[in-house]
Amino acid sequence: MHMSGTLHITRGGTSVVVDTSTAGLPTILYWGPALGDTSSADLDALAAASIPQRVSGSIDTPARLTLVPLESHGWQGTPAFTGHRGGGSRTPAFQVTELKTDDAQLTVTANDDDAGLALTAQLTLTAAGLLRQRLAVTNTGADEYEVRSLLAFFPLPAGAQEILDHTGRHLRERSPQRHNLTAGSYHRESRRGRPGADATVLLAAGEPAFGFERGLVHAVHTAWSGNHQYIVEQTPSGEKFLAAGELLLPQEMTLAPGSTYTAPDAFGSWGEGLNELASRFHSEFRGRPEHPVRPRPVTLNTWEAVYFDHSLDTLKSLADRAARAGIERYVLDDGWFSGRRDDTAGLGDWFVDESVWPNGLTPLIDHVRSLGMEFGLWFEPEMVNPDSKLARNHPEWIIQTPGRVPVAARQQQVLNLAIPDAYNYILTCIDDILTANDIAYIKWDHNRDLLEASNATSGAAVVHSNVEAVYRLMAELKERHPGLEIESCASGGARVDMGILRHTDRIWTSDCIDPIERLVNQKHTGLLVPPELMGMHVGGPRSHSTGRTHALSFRAATAIFGHFGVEWDISGLSDEELARLGNWIELHKQWRDVLHAGTTVHADLPDPSMDLRGVVAQDRRSALYGYSLTGSSASYPPGRITFPGLDPTTTYTITPASFDYTDQGQSGLAWAEAARNGTPLAMSGRLLGALGVHAPVLFPEQSVLIEVRAQSTQGNTTHKGENS
Ligand code: DGJ
Repeated sequence: MHMSGTLHITRGGTSVVVDTSTAGLPTILYWGPALGDTSSADLDALAAASIPQRVSGSIDTPARLTLVPLESHGWQGTPAFTGHRGGGSRTPAFQVTELKTDDAQLTVTANDDDAGLALTAQLTLTAAGLLRQRLAVTNTGADEYEVRSLLAFFPLPAGAQEILDHTGRHLRERSPQRHNLTAGSYHRESRRGRPGADATVLLAAGEPAFGFERGLVHAVHTAWSGNHQYIVEQTPSGEKFLAAGELLLPQEMTLAPGSTYTAPDAFGSWGEGLNELASRFHSEFRGRPEHPVRPRPVTLNTWEAVYFDHSLDTLKSLADRAARAGIERYVLDDGWFSGRRDDTAGLGDWFVDESVWPNGLTPLIDHVRSLGMEFGLWFEPEMVNPDSKLARNHPEWIIQTPGRVPVAARQQQVLNLAIPDAYNYILTCIDDILTANDIAYIKWDHNRDLLEASNATSGAAVVHSNVEAVYRLMAELKERHPGLEIESCASGGARVDMGILRHTDRIWTSDCIDPIERLVNQKHTGLLVPPELMGMHVGGPRSHSTGRTHALSFRAATAIFGHFGVEWDISGLSDEELARLGNWIELHKQWRDVLHAGTTVHADLPDPSMDLRGVVAQDRRSALYGYSLTGSSASYPPGRITFPGLDPTTTYTITPASFDYTDQGQSGLAWAEAARNGTPLAMSGRLLGALGVHAPVLFPEQSVLIEVRAQSTQGNTTHKGENS
């Protein structure tokens, strides 16, 4: 550490400068692009330059935005920590007792013996350049202490003037919205017991009109799957910050003497544009030991193909077609267990329904396995239908305010998995099915928000304990069944966060598979989640959730970048149609290594109907881009598309990778014609990024994929065949 107490930590392209001499707790003076070498004199000067001036009508020593700003040190904005002992209003006045530095990590320990509290704040710059904050509070007093909030604060530069967050609903998750950042507090909360369909996947603030390619922007995400809060605030003294943490319900976190509350990890990222900001999150995911490394199996999910209409013959013939198309994993969705003929009954009775499956699941699983595919099965372990044996036998396991069950949602209630017997029952049910059958994958659903989430007997709030229970349950099942993969689904994408993704291998991004909707949803889910963890499926020609009809090329070209799959009754396809689907699956497999390890990029194009996104290989020798037109273009021809993320000094050839779109003007487009004639245009990455090429004239709601490949030193290029 630098002598004067100003510490410069740098890693993964990010710098953080912390002044450890500020009153109370240390203060982050800077968080953003790496500062390079800094001298002691520089750091001293920065610390001195950061001391605010005393002003009239205010406190004598202006408060600082410390790691945990509190009223006891003069802070009058949103406090980072609140709580009470038996109703008392005392704010702790933490004093640092120890500062430890270790590589790219600073651990601050502080206490207030009079308040009976100790605080630990750990700041870590991860290899990916994320700033992780892990905060914990311990009750060192002699009686109970209730923690009401413990939030991680991330300072924003003065230039941050615009906010990006998300809203949404079932079938339209992560819909972006923008606001000006002005004085006051902008607060997003989840009180749904899960992040929710309307949750923001992160809270970002940046320079005016920041985009994917440009504009300095910072964002925060909290790794937690229950109630949460995100704040962006600007104080009257001009401090700007992001804050994130758990939203605790009354008496949910009452600490006995000696016990500790550890807040969920909060992660901060930044970028010159959202592409860079997102790439730090993606690298973070990819650097985790639990990150799936084997190729993501192309998946067929039966839901939109058959819904609850389970018949062995139909499902077997669906499997036959799936295997012929090149699918690698077959997932049997909702409807296989006792009493589950529709969505009104059965949840909780996790036994194969003998009336539908007289010989169990084995005949289907054996068939699927014999075709060379893995088998996956749907569960909704945290839920119970009142019309089930489980609810009748154990009404006390249902989350409720004593004497009143919550308002129903999808005819179901939530089990209290914090009750050990309830937890063990569910663990045993799933474990038995996994032990008796050859099942490699669970689609783990969660189809309702939690309301009045209390223990039926004591009335104590149970959201926090249930999030911990579900993490434990997933971990225990994976330990008992090595290699088991789990998908996090929650009415589509209502549970998407880094907490659940520590235990799962994929998210179901949305129940809406309409490509128009998915383009937005996937772009914004991708601010956090890398493509290999996002379920993206080709639906049927007519979207079940919007009624819009789209060509296969549009449906497939918009899904091909993610964990690819099919959600469609393909049993009725002609051989030719199945072969066309197979071609898309084959194209995905050819590119899968690049798509699932490369850098995701989006171009900032002036026409909102034009969308250009892609994935650039790590070595930047190849890239696959998708150009889509979602409505009619403003100009005609539509103008240029640019290709972000390439190496400026490398020369690349550019070739359409799919030709089965309806193109009004394909024959006149020089670069596409050149590629068709076997002499694709070669341009530098700099020109492709800055000027690009003219977009093909497409009908609205069409996509074309474009391959970009580094020209080999011999002047040869590699081409893939046309995808018809
Ligand atoms: C909601 C999910 O999002 C769907 O994919 C499907 O699994 C249904 N639940 C089944 O009930």
